[in-house]
Amino acid sequence: MKFYRKIVARFYDLAMQRVERLCLQQWRRELLAELSGDVLEIGAGTGANLTHYSSRLASLQLCEPDAAMRRQLEVKLGASSHGFAHLSACVAARLDVDGESLDFVVSTLAFCSVEDPEQAMREAFRVLKPGGRLVLMEHVAADQNSRLHYWQHCWQPFWKRIACNCHLTRKTAQLLEDSGFELFVRKEVMRGAPAITTPMIVGYALRP
Ligand SMILES: C[S@@+](CC[C@H](N)C(=O)[O-])C[C@H]1O[C@@H](n2cnc3c(N)ncnc32)[C@H](O)[C@@H]1O
Repeated sequence: MKFYRKIVARFYDLAMQRVERLCLQQWRRELLAELSGDVLEIGAGTGANLTHYSSRLASLQLCEPDAAMRRQLEVKLGASSHGFAHLSACVAARLDVDGESLDFVVSTLAFCSVEDPEQAMREAFRVLKPGGRLVLMEHVAADQNSRLHYWQHCWQPFWKRIACNCHLTRKTAQLLEDSGFELFVRKEVMRGAPAITTPMIVGYALRP
């Protein structure tokens, strides 16, 4: 498993290249360029968001529990203008951060993979200042009763294994509202990706 994760981390950027070009990079730019103050990213992966953050942030914490992903992230961090960023192995459900201390939490393609999404959302709520935002770009469950929803359910057990715990049927928007956030997201389609992963939400969740 450790070896498989190393392979995934090594080829992640290559595998995502086309989708990044077709849509993800544009959404990352839109969501992240204007962020300011104290920012924490969960599941930072290989660092696909790094180039989109301002170098004038007050602080930037990058959490990535997978050691192989973290190594890729370290390399990108070294070559970036974000030398001030703090990198940790924190999981989203247990952030080593004071309550009400952050202006933004960022999650891009991460809530699909986290072990305990409800607890991770409670943590994001806890660490955000009132008025703070959880910035989101997530692939989610298709509309209930749609054909795509049916196929997501069929693929789920296999997909979870090959894609490192990625869930196709997470109702992320609903879970966020249940956690007390106010949602400001739009639906999008992840062009160039396997059909079962294409339904997306892009935007932010406000911590009242
Ligand atoms: C699909 S990758 C997305 C990486 C990156 N955020 C991006 O936009 O390209 C999902 C990431 O979430 C991380 N992850 C998985 N479980 C996690 C958890 N419980 N807490 C935080 N991150 C987690 C994985 O290690 C992986 O790097």
